[in-house]
Amino acid sequence: MSAVLHATESPATDYFISLEDKYGAHNYHPLPVVLKKGKGVHLWDVDDKQYYDFLSGYSAVNQGHCHPKIIDVLIEQAQTLTLTSRAFYNDQLGEYEKFITSYFGYDKVLPMNTGVEAVETAIKLSRRWGYQVKGIAENQAKVVVCNDNFHGRTLGVISYSTDESSRHHFGPFLPGFIQVPYNNIEALEKAFQDETVAAFMFEPIQGEAGVVVPNVGYYAKVRQLCNKYNVLMVADEIQSGLCRTGHLLAICEEGVHADILILGKALSGGTIPISAVLCNDEVMMTIKPGEHGSTYGGNPLACKIAIAALTVLKDENMAANSHKMGILFRNELSKIESPFIKTIRGKGLLNAIVIDHHNKEAAWELCIEMKNNGLLAKPTHGDKIRFAPPLIITETQILEAVTIIKKSLRILEQL
Ligand SMILES: Cc1ncc(COP(=O)(O)O)c(C=O)c1O
Repeated sequence: MSAVLHATESPATDYFISLEDKYGAHNYHPLPVVLKKGKGVHLWDVDDKQYYDFLSGYSAVNQGHCHPKIIDVLIEQAQTLTLTSRAFYNDQLGEYEKFITSYFGYDKVLPMNTGVEAVETAIKLSRRWGYQVKGIAENQAKVVVCNDNFHGRTLGVISYSTDESSRHHFGPFLPGFIQVPYNNIEALEKAFQDETVAAFMFEPIQGEAGVVVPNVGYYAKVRQLCNKYNVLMVADEIQSGLCRTGHLLAICEEGVHADILILGKALSGGTIPISAVLCNDEVMMTIKPGEHGSTYGGNPLACKIAIAALTVLKDENMAANSHKMGILFRNELSKIESPFIKTIRGKGLLNAIVIDHHNKEAAWELCIEMKNNGLLAKPTHGDKIRFAPPLIITETQILEAVTIIKKSLRILEQL
């Protein structure tokens, strides 16, 4: 749908939307709101209207918009040294590597920028380990993935997507992946019978698929199976991690430690793209100088910001607040008597509702109405709406947000 279809908002809104429409690629379908400022759980549009942000930059802004402690560090380091490339050492990278490895309990970290680069890195590490440690025959290594996964947009990663709109006319694709149903231990064990399997990569909660939460015990069972079959457990916690689900990582809920941990998004608190892959030496040391890298990966600015972003998460008890506010949010949502809410699900502050309506545009129209009433959220896969506010949200703010959602639902009676 073209953005100009909504060009009736306000002169300022129309102007900025028309610029994007004319000069930018149409690879997104944004809600017709143009934002200019953010603070904590709030965003403001170009007409100074205030909103609750219930997307948080797809969970990149867990710490809240423009968190002062992150922004202070950003400004200070930006005025000191931003990029050296990895051709030289810098005085921030080592400190960051020490900090993040002890924070998550791994021997080493490999810093990258966007989430999908970290995912690609994890696939390369898995294959390397498969050949050099597990002893898989050359070019035979496989990675098991889940149906309905979302791990990003590179060709390598969409090669194992099951979403046709992500793949259509982008082939040919990369071989070496086995797809299994999510949350299905029997299927996983069956796939592991193949001795060329190096790794199982999965999202502990499938965010893009509409916040699909697996059964209790899934992570622990995956861990057991990976141990039994000598397969690396690779957790993509880019969206589910960093306190979003009420735990530091979603898999921490079951006391599980992955062999390879992938982080991104909130690792920078929504400032610049920072991602990371963590694992122990047995895996990480299979990559030698010159075999993988990125110009911006591990730059001093990113290192400083990531330490601040992780420090803030712990200092401000964001996991505990996410857990508590998540329970309150789902409880309050479940009190809304609406025939249009089919399902409410989630963990911590990663939640979604599934809309039941004969009109296929119902979820979109509800998001438009919530926007009009002061809350921003976006449909995913048609009938699902994700609700993921910054983790600093308070009880009063949750209650006000639910009031907005409840009021907005009435629009569905008119469709
Ligand atoms: C689980 C997961 N993995 C990977 C990615 C890709 O991250 P990026 O968009 O930073 O490349 C995303 C983005 O939404 C994600 O949710």
